[in-house]
Amino acid sequence: TPKGSCLESVKIAIDTGYRHIDGAFVYCNEHEVGQAIREKIAEGKIKREDIFYCGKLWNTCHPPELVRPTLEKTLKILQLDYVDLYIIELPMAFKPGDAIYPKDENGKFIYHKTDLCATWEAMEACKDAGLAKSIGVSNFNRRQLEMILNKPGLKYKPVSNQVECHPYFTQPKLLEFCRQHDIVIVGYSPLGTSRDETWVNVSSPPLLKDPLLNAIGKKYNKTAAQIALRFSIQRGVVVIPKSFNPQRIRENFQIFDFSLTEKEMKEIEALNKNVRYVELLM
Ligand code: A2P
Repeated sequence: TPKGSCLESVKIAIDTGYRHIDGAFVYCNEHEVGQAIREKIAEGKIKREDIFYCGKLWNTCHPPELVRPTLEKTLKILQLDYVDLYIIELPMAFKPGDAIYPKDENGKFIYHKTDLCATWEAMEACKDAGLAKSIGVSNFNRRQLEMILNKPGLKYKPVSNQVECHPYFTQPKLLEFCRQHDIVIVGYSPLGTSRDETWVNVSSPPLLKDPLLNAIGKKYNKTAAQIALRFSIQRGVVVIPKSFNPQRIRENFQIFDFSLTEKEMKEIEALNKNVRYVELLM
């Protein structure tokens, strides 16, 4: 993202009322997020404890001995003392090292044997050290979650699992499983992504053009985006819409002054195509 745009967007978001900020080392903008939070604290607009910052452990940092130093690096970049939530970004590991996407001479990803349970124990230690208030996972399927939940000597359960979730990919089975285990689903790409062909499956149609979402929007004088976000929060899914546009940042927050009927919720649920935009082919 262009230099400074993340800083400005996070400041606008905080002024608008957002408190949950979803970040990651691999987004390469944590320094701007941290600066925005610190500036808003200095202005007296918020206190540190008002903000809920989520950071992520990248694939090259799964070996247990790398977990804490990696989180410490993120905290140094943010210039904060702790993150509110630290999550394992993906359930597979890449070769540790400076390359974020390590590849061999044929352009193939270099993976790394990893024991997710050992990584999780290192995450638990970060919580015990006060560097992360809570710990969770992302892109974990049911079997991977069960591996952690059934780990002998488990100290802390994952509090959340961040996965793709929106009206075209509603995750009914994973949602039910996570509900049963008190794991919050945080839905990424809640607006159907930016449709960037380098990482998005664009053969699935654009979510925000959906006729039903637009028709329901008309009824409430809302946009399709607002209907999609309202749908998710109303079924208990946390949403993390991405926007670097001031008007849309504000628009995406105007979802608490109306509610969808049960019939509308069912109709939107029926849009599920079971197709991901973010296939994570690596
Ligand atoms: P922009 O940053 O220019 O607003 P997702 O959160 O599903 O990944 O979607 C992000 C994409 O949706 C971005 O391309 C973002 O562009 C765009 N977007 C964000 N909010 C809205 C909105 N209210 N209406 C239309 N597009 C939006």
